[in-house]
Amino acid sequence: MAQTTLSNLLHETRRFDPPADLAAAANLKADAYAAADADRLGFWAKQAERITWETPFTDVLDWSNPPFAKWYVGGKLNAAYNCLDRHVEAGNGDRVAYYFEGEPGDTRTITYSQLKDEVCQAANALIELGVKTGDRIAIYLPMIPETVVAMLACARLGAPHTVVFGGFSASALRDRITDCQAEIVITADGGNRKGKPSALKPAVDEAVKECPDVRNVLVIKRTGQDVDWTDGRDLWWDDVVGKQSTEHTAEAFDAEHPLYVMYTSGTTGKPKGILHTTGGYLVGTSYTHWSVFDIKPETDVYWTAADIGWVTGHSYIVYGPLANGTTSIMYEGTPDTPHPGRWWEIVEKYKATILYCAPTAIRTFMKVGAEIPAKSDLTSLRLIGSVGEPINPEAYVWYRDTIGGGKTPVVDTWWQTETGMIMISPLPGVTSGKPGSAMNALPGVVADVVDDAGESVPDGSGGYLVLKEPWPAMLRTIWGDDERYVDTYWSRFKGVYFAGDGAKKDEDGDLWVLGRVDDVMNVSGHRLSTTEIESALVSHPKVAEAAVVGASDVTTGQAVVAFVILRTSADGGGGDVVDELRKHVSARIGAIARPRSILVVSELPKTRSGKIMRRLLRDVAEDREVGDVSTLADDSVMGAITEGMQPAR
Ligand code: WTA
Repeated sequence: MAQTTLSNLLHETRRFDPPADLAAAANLKADAYAAADADRLGFWAKQAERITWETPFTDVLDWSNPPFAKWYVGGKLNAAYNCLDRHVEAGNGDRVAYYFEGEPGDTRTITYSQLKDEVCQAANALIELGVKTGDRIAIYLPMIPETVVAMLACARLGAPHTVVFGGFSASALRDRITDCQAEIVITADGGNRKGKPSALKPAVDEAVKECPDVRNVLVIKRTGQDVDWTDGRDLWWDDVVGKQSTEHTAEAFDAEHPLYVMYTSGTTGKPKGILHTTGGYLVGTSYTHWSVFDIKPETDVYWTAADIGWVTGHSYIVYGPLANGTTSIMYEGTPDTPHPGRWWEIVEKYKATILYCAPTAIRTFMKVGAEIPAKSDLTSLRLIGSVGEPINPEAYVWYRDTIGGGKTPVVDTWWQTETGMIMISPLPGVTSGKPGSAMNALPGVVADVVDDAGESVPDGSGGYLVLKEPWPAMLRTIWGDDERYVDTYWSRFKGVYFAGDGAKKDEDGDLWVLGRVDDVMNVSGHRLSTTEIESALVSHPKVAEAAVVGASDVTTGQAVVAFVILRTSADGGGGDVVDELRKHVSARIGAIARPRSILVVSELPKTRSGKIMRRLLRDVAEDREVGDVSTLADDSVMGAITEGMQPAR
């Protein structure tokens, strides 16, 4: 198998050292790697000290029945107490927990003691509605402070929440409610999106028609939209929560008590309910938030620009930042409402010091142009991060230069819904960053790249990304389906966790995550990464965005088919551009990677979380009827692609 074609990305020679002042004051220093290697469980015992335990744990890890882990055995704690009460008790109740910025421009500043009071009221309301420890509660809300209040009220009672992203349809919501047998749904009339109210309640009404276990729907008033009402079942949040006492004593639960279920898509149609538990998850998220973002709770203003409906929001808007007593920004709306500089205005307004977002957002900003962020003062930023997909070197360098003023470290963080916490990332005060590389497993995490037989590959080679030791925030199972948990993650390679991603170790042993293995192509027996070809295409000045798929081909097994969006400034997009781009890919990577076809399109099909749905592009590339488009953010995109494209062979 020729690996040489993968090596293009690895010819990246730019290096960005940590700024000296950040390095000198960094939370985690280089010696952490050796300390964790020497005594991994001792290291995790030490990290658990950032959490307040009502009953101390007796063992760090029970791995006697792999892959079913028990972390911090015997320990008891309350997650909401750790996120709120203890900060108030320590005298930090007046510290801001969230600067909330609504899309229409309304704002709220919420301190730790205010948040604690609201969470206690919500917990008392849920008790009044009959919620008991262990009951499941579904949350279907926009990005508003009450979403955090609802989650922490559940955590306070030991009632696992399942937050369903507000962009999901009624049927997706129904499936999730049914799968985890939730009895209460917390929703809102609607949220603000792209300059107008976007209703949520109708989807809940439709979903719960087929969910007989749901006895109450709590409705937060956000937009003031008209809502249909089912007496007896539906209750206004303000009516039920507002009257409650702000006193509630949190009960401590076992470290392995379920904290939440988050659904994510797998290779089959049925979403997987990823189960996270309390102690390990809180240790894992607070440790990584503290080390990867170098959090200084007294001075930082931290912003994860993601939706709470995804794991990134759970771990790095809610649990990690609050456990660390951080001040965060929460923004309700879309980046370009009412104008394309909205994010940068928010950074300037709150003097954000840390920004964490997805490469797809960065590439969209690149497309719009550097003159937009240039209008705002972004000098408060000292660290910027990326998550969710491989960041191509061009986007990395643009992000660092244009948003980070050429001075901030960029932390490219690899992790998954399943891992619960960041697993592979540079350490901002230690690592010399390479654009496009997530670099190294964090201290305490053991990652490797293995071949088909599960053998560790040498430096300079590619293979499958695996995690060789359990970690505190790992998923404990798939809700209600232990067998699928074992099959999906622990069966491909014996005794190790298979992440589903392809990766490469460069000559220095640093890790480059190449994307899902289902996105890795095999062309004439050569292994090619979609990411690498996309990266090559995006490095061409005329290309704004690119998506590449491997289409089946009778001669070569698979063939490279690229979909590109041209920059507005680029000329028409006819045959010449296509020829130019094919030559460009050849020149950057090698003739083997030259796309068989390049289709110029005006949009790419993306999920609501911004991931490109290559499956649909593969349908187009293979001239099939386009498959299920229900998870697309905009389901008209596929029509536009099939009608408007300009194929060229
Ligand atoms: C991909 C999001 C490359 C990867 C937190 C993983 C990444 C999947 C990176 C998980 C990164 C995430 N570089 N790829 N820094 N971060 N991925 O569950 O394919 O929504 O398996 O979790 O995103 O996506 P999920």
